[in-house]
Amino acid sequence: MPALRVFSGIQPTADSFHLGNYLGALRQWVALQETHDAFYCVVDLHAITVPQDPALLRRRSRIAVAQLFAAGLDPERCTVFVQSHIPEHAELAWVLSCLTGFGEASRMVQFKDKAQKSGADQASVGLFTYPILQAADILLYQTDQVPVGEDQRQHLELTRDLAQRFNRRFGDTFVVPGPYIVADVAKISDLQDPSVKMSKSASAPQGIVDVLEEPASIRRKISRAVTDLDTDIRADEQAKPGVTNLLRIYAALSGASVADLEARYAGAGYGAFKKDLAEVVVSALAPIREQAEKMLADEAELDRLLAAGAARAREVASRTMAQVRDRVGFLASR
Ligand code: TYM
Repeated sequence: MPALRVFSGIQPTADSFHLGNYLGALRQWVALQETHDAFYCVVDLHAITVPQDPALLRRRSRIAVAQLFAAGLDPERCTVFVQSHIPEHAELAWVLSCLTGFGEASRMVQFKDKAQKSGADQASVGLFTYPILQAADILLYQTDQVPVGEDQRQHLELTRDLAQRFNRRFGDTFVVPGPYIVADVAKISDLQDPSVKMSKSASAPQGIVDVLEEPASIRRKISRAVTDLDTDIRADEQAKPGVTNLLRIYAALSGASVADLEARYAGAGYGAFKKDLAEVVVSALAPIREQAEKMLADEAELDRLLAAGAARAREVASRTMAQVRDRVGFLASR
């Protein structure tokens, strides 16, 4: 049996990934490269659905790639590439957009959230069709599983619907992918407002821990994280969302279970708990920061790794797209 294929993507829209990206997605990516045929993509086409400065986008794309390798992706074990290097993504997105209902696209909640923030008239058509491009990313690689956080679930449902629709209409072409979502880390919350997810676009800096953040700043943010009125350290999503979020982060990074941590910190108070948590976070992230800095110092090597990744991605993408063109009824170009 050949290994199952995984595909996932991340946007280069900040100077660092954050702890939600790391725990919800990246750590799974690193684990899955051992057991799966894995493709991971820095989605710069998605990044321009909101206004981006060209120099900044270029820099952030490199920072994103450096963090992926620094977090443990191994170019020998998986394929890491930049979306815009493979024009088939945009081409397949066009075909799929012609199979997507306007009403269907209008129901995507991330668009509604983001459009509301910028004002509906300011939102681009690209932001509206963003989930269709995401479906194209996934389907081009004949993906079995997509490791993501909870916020991507609706986009994956659309992807499945489009794969099934295309297959029904034009004959079996795409693997119908499933989500790979790890419940305990699928939604890491904002440290200042645990009712919302940690988010590069929506959270205030105090609510986010960045992967590339300096230790002193990480310690400060965790010590100021919102907890709850009593002093009990126990998980309770409804009554104690702040502490529950911190316990989840601690458990995910240390390997201890939440129950172990509740027992260890019974009666200890928030101060001691947060101090230990800060050290756990700092020691998980510091090596990634150091390695990412090293990789960023050698742009030629990063570009070489990306060219190798793009070559592998192109092989699969061009094969799928050739089949799609034929199935849809486009004349072969000779
Ligand atoms: P992006 O760049 O917003 O986020 C990258 C990954 O991080 C996860 N994530 C979280 N997980 C847990 N808690 C959080 N607070 C948190 N915040 C973010 C996201 O779920 C995601 O897995 N649309 C995608 C990018 C994309 C993609 C794809 C993903 C484009 N094409 C194809 C999978 C397959 C996005 O905006 O991710």
